[in-house]
Amino acid sequence: MRFLYLHSINMKTRTRRLRGNETLRRMVRETRISCDALIYPLFVREGKGIEEELPSLPGLTRYSPDTVAKGIDEALSAGVRSFLLFGVPKAKDENGSSACDEDGVVQQALKNIKKRFADDAYLITDVCLCEYTSHGHCGLIRDGKVDNDATLPLLAQTALSHASSGSDMVAPSAMMDGTVAAIRNALDAERFKDIPIMSYAAKYDSAFYGPFREAAGSAPQFGDRKSYQMDWHNSKEALKRIEIDIEEGADIIIVKPALPCLDIISQTARQIKLPTAAYSVSGEYAMIKAAAASGFIDEYKTMCESAVAVFRAGADILITYFAKDLAAAIRKGDVG
Ligand code: PBG
Repeated sequence: MRFLYLHSINMKTRTRRLRGNETLRRMVRETRISCDALIYPLFVREGKGIEEELPSLPGLTRYSPDTVAKGIDEALSAGVRSFLLFGVPKAKDENGSSACDEDGVVQQALKNIKKRFADDAYLITDVCLCEYTSHGHCGLIRDGKVDNDATLPLLAQTALSHASSGSDMVAPSAMMDGTVAAIRNALDAERFKDIPIMSYAAKYDSAFYGPFREAAGSAPQFGDRKSYQMDWHNSKEALKRIEIDIEEGADIIIVKPALPCLDIISQTARQIKLPTAAYSVSGEYAMIKAAAASGFIDEYKTMCESAVAVFRAGADILITYFAKDLAAAIRKGDVG
């Protein structure tokens, strides 16, 4: 008894001692993050000379294929080297046919960025149909419902067109079963065996995607995404989907959203033998921005704390709209 009592006093004193000085606090940090682990999402809209603020995502700019190099350049100067590209086309149709157009908006952006930056910028492309379909769903609609299997060849074709335009990695986000296998087969059959797939394996039907849908013009015109995105009451389902995507050939697993899914990130990172990426989505960003603009919270501190929490849960990679600001915080030493 007496020993235990002394022991607990000692532990308390020791943790206090280790917090006594800023240099020491930094020395004993358990979580460390690096700019290398950050991915910055960028929206590219079809057209020319576009450089527009996104009202739903304050502080972010939407570009066109001819101006996007500016956004890349700024991020590179801030120390961010990896990007996740989303396309917003002019024309949408039932089949989202501009998604796999060799001269589509993302394909044009890829070619322009690669021409200018070569391997200085690592380009990842989101593979989905919702930005390209007139109905705003991530798959083809047959008889009022999403047709999973009919969507797969289109997603594979889209991934292929991204790879041949210079994408370094593809990130399928449509949540159709069998997507990873379909894309892997298509890439392997061409000259793209070395292009990795970062799969949105555990993607919840989350209300936190709202601001993104405005930025990408991709809100569903009828119904919702509950038939293909996951119910946020479930966690075993997430782990099952992750297992299946790994079997199909995924190289990196995404969990999305991030803060509402710290438990899923933690379980995933412990169970899988591949890198875990967390996507801190548009609503998470907008929430901090809006609360800070109202004077309710400190934007910089909540950004730092939220990012570190995701890494502390076990994520290896963070996809975040705060990437540039976080890179600055990392350089200053305010986060690991
Ligand atoms: C495309 C896609 C979405 C997001 C990433 N890829 C929208 C959605 O599923 O509705 C959301 C990202 C964010 O909110 O930041 N399917």
